[in-house]
Amino acid sequence: MGMDINNLPLIREECEILHMTDKQLKEIMSRLHNDLVKGLSRDTHPTAIVKCWLTYIQDLPNGKERGKFLALDLGGTNFRVLIINLGENHFDMQSKIYAIPSHIMTGTGVALFDHIAECLANFMKEHNVYEERLALGFTFSFPLKQMGLTKGILQRWTKGFSCSGAIGEDVVQGLKDAIARRGDLNLSVMGILNDATGTLMSCAHKERNCRVGVIIGTGSNACYVEKTENCELFEGEPTKPAMLINTEWGAFGDDGALDFVRTEFDREVDSNSINPGKQIQEKMISGMYMGELVRLALVKFTTMGLLFGGRGSDLLFQRNSFYTKYVSEIESDKPGDYTSCMDVLEELGLSHATESDMAAVRHVCECVSRRAAHLVSAGIATLLNKMNEPKVTVGIDGSVYRFHPHFHTLMCEKIAQLVRPGITFDLMLSEDGSGRGAALVAAVACRETLGFA
Ligand code: GLC
Repeated sequence: MGMDINNLPLIREECEILHMTDKQLKEIMSRLHNDLVKGLSRDTHPTAIVKCWLTYIQDLPNGKERGKFLALDLGGTNFRVLIINLGENHFDMQSKIYAIPSHIMTGTGVALFDHIAECLANFMKEHNVYEERLALGFTFSFPLKQMGLTKGILQRWTKGFSCSGAIGEDVVQGLKDAIARRGDLNLSVMGILNDATGTLMSCAHKERNCRVGVIIGTGSNACYVEKTENCELFEGEPTKPAMLINTEWGAFGDDGALDFVRTEFDREVDSNSINPGKQIQEKMISGMYMGELVRLALVKFTTMGLLFGGRGSDLLFQRNSFYTKYVSEIESDKPGDYTSCMDVLEELGLSHATESDMAAVRHVCECVSRRAAHLVSAGIATLLNKMNEPKVTVGIDGSVYRFHPHFHTLMCEKIAQLVRPGITFDLMLSEDGSGRGAALVAAVACRETLGFA
């Protein structure tokens, strides 16, 4: 082993650009607040960046939902089909993951829906419900302009999908058409929703004061409870006091609102993505990009001669080779211990890393993940301040929140600093929000249709 020159102080200095001050976070909060209001207001909605789509969900679960439901969950790491039994005190659930091959992710919309319908049919056969007429909830985690609980027009693809002929089309119709083309399934699609909405619903099933659902996974988004009077795009009778709003806050920053805190790494991740200029805040937070941000910083410091003795590896210089799960693994090492870090570096062909290199790699991971946690915290604090209720539970799901060892703690601390005095909150892991949420939306819809609330 050569001499271990400690460049950590220099690397720390370079990483300062990833640090956001409370002053900057407060500026971000005020910009996000303005964007939320623009999304909700009739006059400004058409040009708004944060769209605040209506979900047409006005009832939270009351715990009395019963029955057997199918659910589809598309738009996270995996595509899943689920069957869920809502009973008195239990929540029985079976599910199966199906692959969405990359030629389907970037093929045609019709092929995507045919694939989904085929997986659904296979699943129903395996679970002996092929002949049954079941209600289905569809968690489709992309921006939808909803025209009702069962009508949603796709606005844009995010997170690596880009199926042609789907934007501007009703996704529920797309699914129904695919089912009709097969001709063998008998289902009623009771609702379409987003994973953030599903997370809120599923958390609200357990926690009566849940008012926000957040996803920090492949993508990032939030859903919250807004007063109907503020939902200016809602055209129905304002008989119920509130509605869930799908903010689509991943798009925050698409007009440059976050440029004052973005770095060269963010700009590079964006320009290498399949949707440059879009989903700017999402690209600073979510699992689809976090590892790549770390990699770009490591590449820079290697090229500067501050890391690995200036000698990288083929993998280090290859796009997307640094998985986001590495960030969680590296930060799970105890202070002073670099076991996981060493494994990761070895996998990347960097076994010549010294101990101070490892300390530096870990520092870069911490800076990138901390910044993501702080940005999400600013978003949640903005929603809590806007709702202005004394005690709110926030349901959270997604791989980053679930597997990163410090995300939860970082968020609790930062949100507490950013909310108005007197507001208290809990952050709750809402496991499987998108699956359960879809069943709950279907159940609440059945309850409504059948006329007993
Ligand atoms: C993307 C989608 C959004 C979803 C989020 C988390 O931002 O546009 O609908 O909720 O990812 O999966």
